[in-house]
Amino acid sequence: MKVERFSSKEALYDRAVAIITQVKNDGATTFGLATGGTMEPLYAKIRETNIDFSESLSYNLDEYVGLSATHEQSYAYYMQQHLFQYKPFKASHLPNGLANDVVAEAAKYEDLLQQQPLDFQLLGIGQNGHIGFNEPGTSFDSLTHLVELEESTRQANARYFDTIDEVPTQAFTMGIQSIMRAKCILLLAVGEAKHEVLKRVLASEYTEEVPASALTKHPNVIILTDLQEEENS
Ligand code: GLP
Repeated sequence: MKVERFSSKEALYDRAVAIITQVKNDGATTFGLATGGTMEPLYAKIRETNIDFSESLSYNLDEYVGLSATHEQSYAYYMQQHLFQYKPFKASHLPNGLANDVVAEAAKYEDLLQQQPLDFQLLGIGQNGHIGFNEPGTSFDSLTHLVELEESTRQANARYFDTIDEVPTQAFTMGIQSIMRAKCILLLAVGEAKHEVLKRVLASEYTEEVPASALTKHPNVIILTDLQEEENS
């Protein structure tokens, strides 16, 4: 894992844009994308570039169960608002939050991913170490599946909803194995709330209790963070 530390968020996000541009110029056509507050400044910056995804394919990490693509808190809506309406892809995929058969939907999404291996995967990280919605304890062998969200994850994401009761209790997520198949992974860990869990990953802990620690075994991971070296003890 290559770790790059930034004291300026501006510089961190500029670097993220530069990496994505480079990966694309090097021939990447399939991009795994992520949502969350961490990605908002990144997508805002990408919108200002002349990067063209019109021949690329996108696959999002996760989606809430029970929310339609037009629901303002769905990840489909988030992607439309922050990126796709400005930078359309040839085709963009997310799990269908309204699928009747959730098991079949997860299998269908995993099939798609296996047909089109990801050249690149963008990741945020949850305070408990989750990547996508892979909560602590998820098998490193997991494929796309349905998850019961942890209370702490629902609380962390409640800021986007009017009340905690509106936060879905389930989600679809790519599995750890699905994520690990990507050729290149870029993880952004920004803000103090992410520092403790990032320190565990950087200390090379390798445990299913910290889902992001699977990345320590991936050959091509870049982590961009505002965690400084001296804080890393
Ligand atoms: C959410 C998403 C993750 C995201 C993480 C951090 O629950 N499912 O994909 O990376 O939590 O979100 P944020 O960037 O808002 O802190």
